[in-house]
Order: sequence, then C-alpha cells, then structure tokens
Amino acid sequence: MAANKKVLMLPGDGIGVEVMSEVRRLIDWMDKRRSVTFDVTEDLVGGAAYEAHGEAISDKTMDVAINSDAVLFGAVGGPQWDNVGYDVRPEAGLLRLRKDMDLFANLRPAICFDALADASSLKRELVAGLDILIVRELTGGVYFGEPRGIETLADGQRRGVNTQVYTTEEIRRVCRVAFDLAEKRGNRVCSVEKNNVMESGVLWREEATWVGENEYPDADLSHMLADNCAMQLVRTPKQFDVIVTDNLFGDMLSDVASMLTGSLGMLPSASLGPADESGRRRAMYEPVHGSAPDIAGQGKANPLAMIQSYAMMLRYSFDMGEDADLVEQAVRNVLDSGKRTGDIMQDGMELLSCEQMGQAVTAELDKLAA
Ligand code: IPM
Ligand code: MG
Repeated sequence: MAANKKVLMLPGDGIGVEVMSEVRRLIDWMDKRRSVTFDVTEDLVGGAAYEAHGEAISDKTMDVAINSDAVLFGAVGGPQWDNVGYDVRPEAGLLRLRKDMDLFANLRPAICFDALADASSLKRELVAGLDILIVRELTGGVYFGEPRGIETLADGQRRGVNTQVYTTEEIRRVCRVAFDLAEKRGNRVCSVEKNNVMESGVLWREEATWVGENEYPDADLSHMLADNCAMQLVRTPKQFDVIVTDNLFGDMLSDVASMLTGSLGMLPSASLGPADESGRRRAMYEPVHGSAPDIAGQGKANPLAMIQSYAMMLRYSFDMGEDADLVEQAVRNVLDSGKRTGDIMQDGMELLSCEQMGQAVTAELDKLAA
C-alpha cells in the first residue's frame, strides 16, 4: 500500500515523549502485520520547541501540521517554563494548532473499562459500563476571546481581562457534530452552559435548541447548567449520552469525567475541523492528560490514553474502524489480564512501566491478529 497517510507526530514535553514512543511501536506493528504504512514526520512543540527556536511551535511545523492528514500530539508544558512569556509558553503551541487548523470539535469519550471500575474514585455501580462522550468546542470562547490581557490602572492596580464570546455559527457547528455522533449512539444530547449568568450561555442554549429542532428533530435534546452538570457527573454519570459544551466548561467537565474512567491516564481525544468537499477533516489526536512533570522521564506514565487517541485517528481520519476496534480490544484485554500502570494500580495486579504497557498492547494485538 502506498504511504499516502501523512501523519505528523508531536510528542512535546514530559510524559508526552514517553507515551508517543508506545504509539510508534503500534505504528511499526501495523506496518508489519496489517501492511498499513503511515508517512510519519516528527517535530517539536511546546517547551521543546521553545528551547530550540524560542517559540512554542514554528511556522514551518504549523505548515506541516496543516498539510497532514492527521496530527498525533503528546503533551506540553512543565515548571521550567512557568515564567516564559504568555505568547510563547508551551501551551501556546497547542492553542495555535487548534486555532490555525480550525479544530473546533473536541471529542472526549469517557469509557469505563470493566476491569477499571474499581480504580475509579466513585463506587463501581456508578461507573461500571459508563460510556459517555463530551463534545467540547475548541476554537472559541474565553480561550481566544478579545479583548484579553493584563493592564495597569491609573491607581496602580492591575486588571486581568478575558472575554467569553460565541457566534451563532460557532455554536451551531459544534452542536451538529454532537448530534451526528449521538445518532450513532443513544441519540441523546445534553447541551451545557450557564445561561443564568452569561449572555453567551443564553445564545448557546437558543442555538443548540435551533439545531435540535430544525436539523435533528428525532434526537433527544436536554439542557443543563454547567455547575449542575459537574455535580451530576459525579452523582449519576450514566444518565448522560453526549454532552456538548463550550471550551472552558468542556475543559473542566472532561477532567471530572476522566476520573469516572479510573484515571486521567485513560482518556483519549480527537479534535476535528470542518469537512472539505471530499469529506476530509483536519484532525489532531491527543490524550487528555498533560505532561505530568512529576513523573516524567521515570517510565511511569500510562500510555493507554495516547494509544486510544491513535485508535481514534484510525477511526476518524482513515476510516479504519476495524483496526481501531482491534487496538481498543487489545487495550481491554491487557486490562482484563490484570496489567496496570501506577495510576490505575490496584491490589493483586501487575505493575508495568510505560514501555511494558506498550509492549503488552502489541503482544495482545499479536494474539488477536493471529
Ligand atoms: C486540555 C488542556 C489544555 C486546555 C491546556 C494544556 C492548554 O487542559 O486539553 O484539556 O486547557 O485546553
Ligand atoms: Mg484540560
């Protein structure tokens, strides 16, 4: 098969580098065992890019990203860059990728594997069988709104400003993604905002309702205030099917949801742009966890969120649902066999390093593909 699947790999900082190595192992496996060849380029992002050329992502790397079929992203950030200017700090590289590639829809599935139901901080019966999808708006809201900045007032005090702002189309397009995905699941969408205090929330609710009534009349649309949603997620998480929400609420609610699955180290994500005429979307795949400087370089990271992000790439960018299923089944089998990284470790289980976990997944794949 021709190597026409252009993938840009951006491991970034901290454990991003370690977890990405395990994806490389999977790519090699796919190459050998399934004759799927990716045309992989690797580059710098985040603190690593800042050290190399003084910015969190270079124009050249951005160009490669925009012209790739998919970007695999590890993680960025670390305490050594805490005092670096806001526009060049590691996170700025991630935000630029999202913005310049127009990756407005961020899919964060929170699935609780049966084997991990006891690793969650919630009771087993609340999370066993959990399968919810958070669709987070990713290129608007307070993350990018203008005006923003810190100014000094006449009396010497300082004032920090950020702006929460959404337009009709920004809300509608992310809602459409949520409804489309819901159709393939339980067809239930819960739209989340705070219309009790924010005008942008009033508009969000109105536009979500418009999309539901006019374009997805068969879907079951409900609305919830964001604070209540946070509470409901830890009270009865299985009440949800698809949640659609803005950039900041989505950031927070997906961290909450991650603990339902056992660990932040388990949550993958896909970030998708608008479809072009051929139906192709720009896309980036990244674990929801960050660079975890406290455990970086010690082989303790859990690569399963990154590996599942890779599975999402197979599914959403390359229409390789069968291969994605295979990878996800391998992850499930590894967990069922009692293998664990530190973050999901339980009594009587076998503690593995990041690398050993990656090896365990390919060993399972060998068995499944045999
Ligand atoms: C996430 C992260 C990022 C965000 C940070 C690293 C900028 O928390 O992807 O959830 O806030 O979006
Ligand atoms: Mg976050």
